[in-house]
Amino acid sequence: MPTPIPMLDLVAQFQTIEHELRAAIEDVLRSGKFILGPQVEAFEQEIAKLCGAPHAVGVASGTDALLLALRAAGVGAGDEVIVPAFSYISTADTVSLLGATPVFSDISPDTFNLDPSQLESRITPRTRAIIPVHLFGQPADMERILTVADSARIVVIEDAAQAIGATRGGRPAGSFGEFGCLSFYPTKNLGAAGDGGMILTSSLEAADRLRSLRGHGAVAHKYISEEQGWNSRLDELQAAILRVKLRHITEWNAARQSHAARYDKLLRAVPGLVLPRLAPGSTHVFHQYTVRLADRERVQKHLAAEGIASAVYYPVPLHLQPMFAHLGYQPGSMPRAERAALEVLSLPIYPELTPGQIERVAGAVATAVVH
Ligand SMILES: Cc1ncc(COP(=O)(O)O)c(C=O)c1O
Repeated sequence: MPTPIPMLDLVAQFQTIEHELRAAIEDVLRSGKFILGPQVEAFEQEIAKLCGAPHAVGVASGTDALLLALRAAGVGAGDEVIVPAFSYISTADTVSLLGATPVFSDISPDTFNLDPSQLESRITPRTRAIIPVHLFGQPADMERILTVADSARIVVIEDAAQAIGATRGGRPAGSFGEFGCLSFYPTKNLGAAGDGGMILTSSLEAADRLRSLRGHGAVAHKYISEEQGWNSRLDELQAAILRVKLRHITEWNAARQSHAARYDKLLRAVPGLVLPRLAPGSTHVFHQYTVRLADRERVQKHLAAEGIASAVYYPVPLHLQPMFAHLGYQPGSMPRAERAALEVLSLPIYPELTPGQIERVAGAVATAVVH
């Protein structure tokens, strides 16, 4: 069996920054401060700077970032929130957790992101917000989405969980809408050693509200709650680890981009394979390198036999998830998302991947697709 190539190699990453990480962890252990302390504050400021947002609020996960942003946007029972039909489940289940209804909208086949031309038809008097997702690391068409949202007075909450460091028209993902949500789940481009998330906002008032919501709705006094919130705190150890990794994120994202370019070159001529497409004016941080192909199962089996991991993000579009069966969407209602779910295949991509490994993956894909 050839040496395995995983989707991601966090042990290899650890080895490149082991000394920095050990020092940062030890500093926190010696400080005796573990929740919402100086590491979290410094990390919030550093992320705000990287993402071009005036304020950043650290929370317990990307899912909580979405939940709290939706709460701060006033979303609740009876409201509708437009979300793409093709994303991770958090984008939609946070909406329904607050008693609101996710209204699914189809994607652009080239980028897998929301198709702005379909948005207007989804807006009703109950639409309160829209959540564009920057899927796989490429920003959605924010100019057109903001135009639609502004004219309908709808709040925009970006789900930038997969796109930290990506830009569109020179602007960082997460800095376009009223809120931008990040996830530091370990497999993300900037991943913690556990869970973590962040909300970006340009409004000081919103940032203050989010700080209150993440601490049971307390404002001036820790034990006096002004409104219902919950515990969604980022801890000092995660913030310290993330601060170390943040020093490398630009270089890591650049490595992903160069690996993607290498895959593009090696796979360009493979018949029937559709490679990732970059929208003009966008930079893509390749959280995933996702191709489209027919007969995916056979190709995955061949890759597995060669010791090469691959993954399907996502096999079932959101509108057809069992949890949303009560909303009554039928197969065929979001044809592009449904087709993507059948055709997508993500290949290993991570900064430490070597040119030789990329050649092995590309060679195995080419052989499997052609035969
Ligand atoms: C697009 C998207 N949205 C939201 C999330 C939720 O983030 P978390 O797992 O940190 O709760 C994730 C990642 O898991 C994601 O990929």
